[in-house]
Amino acid sequence: MTTARTCLPIAWVLVFAGSTWSQAQSPANNQPREYVASSAAAVRPEWPKAAVRAPKGMAVSDEKLASDAGVEIMKRGGNAVDAAAAVAFALAVVEPEAGNIGGGGFMLVRLANGQTAFVDYRETAPAKASRDMYVRPDGTVDPKASIVGYRSIAVPGTVAGMALALQKYGTMSLAQVMEPAIRLAENGFAVEPRLARLLCDSDALGQFDVSRRIFLRNGAYYSPGDILKQPELAATLRRIAKNGPAEFYRGRTAHDLVAEMQRGGGLITLDDLAHYEPRIREPLTKTYVIDGHTWDVITSPPPSSGGVAMIEALNILQPVQLKSWDDPESVHWVIEAMRRAFADRAMYLADPDFAKIPTAQLTSQCYADSLRATIDPTKASSSQQVASEDPGMLQKDCAKSARERLSPQPNGDAASIALAEAARGGHTTHFSVVDAAGNAVANTYTLNDSFGSAVTSADGFLLNDEMDDFTAHPGSPNMFGLIQSEANAVGPGKRPLSSMMPTILLREGKLSFVTGSPGGPTIISATMLSVLNWMRLGMDAQSTVNALRFHEQWMPEAVVLEPTVAVSVVQDLKTRGYQISPRHSWLGEVEAIGIDPASGERLGAPDPRRQGAASGY
Ligand code: DON
Repeated sequence: MTTARTCLPIAWVLVFAGSTWSQAQSPANNQPREYVASSAAAVRPEWPKAAVRAPKGMAVSDEKLASDAGVEIMKRGGNAVDAAAAVAFALAVVEPEAGNIGGGGFMLVRLANGQTAFVDYRETAPAKASRDMYVRPDGTVDPKASIVGYRSIAVPGTVAGMALALQKYGTMSLAQVMEPAIRLAENGFAVEPRLARLLCDSDALGQFDVSRRIFLRNGAYYSPGDILKQPELAATLRRIAKNGPAEFYRGRTAHDLVAEMQRGGGLITLDDLAHYEPRIREPLTKTYVIDGHTWDVITSPPPSSGGVAMIEALNILQPVQLKSWDDPESVHWVIEAMRRAFADRAMYLADPDFAKIPTAQLTSQCYADSLRATIDPTKASSSQQVASEDPGMLQKDCAKSARERLSPQPNGDAASIALAEAARGGHTTHFSVVDAAGNAVANTYTLNDSFGSAVTSADGFLLNDEMDDFTAHPGSPNMFGLIQSEANAVGPGKRPLSSMMPTILLREGKLSFVTGSPGGPTIISATMLSVLNWMRLGMDAQSTVNALRFHEQWMPEAVVLEPTVAVSVVQDLKTRGYQISPRHSWLGEVEAIGIDPASGERLGAPDPRRQGAASGY
């Protein structure tokens, strides 16, 4: 039985007198002018102006308790990979909307000895999934089926991914790194105002018995400060700690999950779970020389689209003089580079185990040079024009395959609602870890939507709705307004295309910056901007995170700018012909670590847009 909703949302409301662009200012350090909260108790703290410095290890995540878990493990002698696994399991407890064992993601590792690896623990489609499973008999796409409930759930990868990362690059056992998470699940933790609001706002959780009981207390909603204990999750984590990943994929946890699927009409079988495999892939790398310094960008390969898109855009921007985000011309160039990278994302990118992806061509300098030549430095291009640009361009100089054509149907309303949803940027989580020896981890993982499919297994963990990242229907936008190709259609065992893109930078061959973000497609812009801020604009670590963010994803054709953008920039962009989509919310949530080249100190730069927290020692 559900009692009446009693919780009061404690939303941070960004106030602009009259809510128009003309009244928004760009204050120092990008601090928004004024916040009010709908609860008198809630007062948003100042944005930090400087990063947290520490001589040895640093963990930066969305949640202090999780960052602390990482530091606890490093202090006990664990390396960055051990600490990263501890942060991931802790987030599965304290950030249930995104942290998970029922989802998947990517871990980028760079060890102090120079070895790099990309651990792909992205979810896979169940064997019974099929190309048109979300298409109704009348040929239209059922927009809910891939987002809420059992049919939206893909085979989770997190437990296998963490176990593999530990086995290959860690030094501790699963049981050791899971200790902090088990403690947090068993003893409980005080619910933050943000989580209380998200739980209160989630109508989907109320539709499923176990979710309603655990996360909504059957209607007696959690208030800030209430203790959330998760005994079923604690027991599950204990079993995984004891029996290893086999517990999740073949043991009692697998059987309970499949029983749940059978009850609700989900597709995942014991066979799907038993056959799930994380993969170790070669990271995508690109070297740039900037102001006499050599930079290596190490980032995420497909099935991430983010790494390819960022390298393509960085290549386009290479000879362009970038000054600041108060300079409309600099913003113009980045928007146009994003537009072209996102067009190629839509046309070419998918699971590399199922489709041939022209990664080398898309990330080649000659292709970027030919794309740059299509950009008018004074006027906005149109996305339609980019879609119909010479399909042989990729072929001409740099590639064998011609550009495939998509016939995008930019359904304006649906797509811009989707983009607004993406811009809320709440539902995935990125964290960065650097240890005393200089090993580094950038990890982004997700349930996709906030609280994923909203289905909770009887064993106390939420399940993803990652199936929505497939192309339900080529040419139609998904929940994030993204139009994608046939290559990303649903297929058994296939990984859906992702935007997640954990990234690490080296300067003169030495570890320099660790970054990544949530935010659906805005992951790509938020992460890329943090890279540009550090590598091209020379910002200090905290400013790379605080600085203005903006986004253009080809379709829908709209530039999204954070509300703190300078009025003069908006006016100038409009004169150039841009369609500006006003936003009253933030883009992404970058949790980054810089390295001070002089002292070697770790500079933890948490994102104040949510409640990022850096812990160092
Ligand atoms: O993998 C992806 O690209 C998406 N599942 C990420 C979703 C996300 O970041 C949601 N946050 N707004």
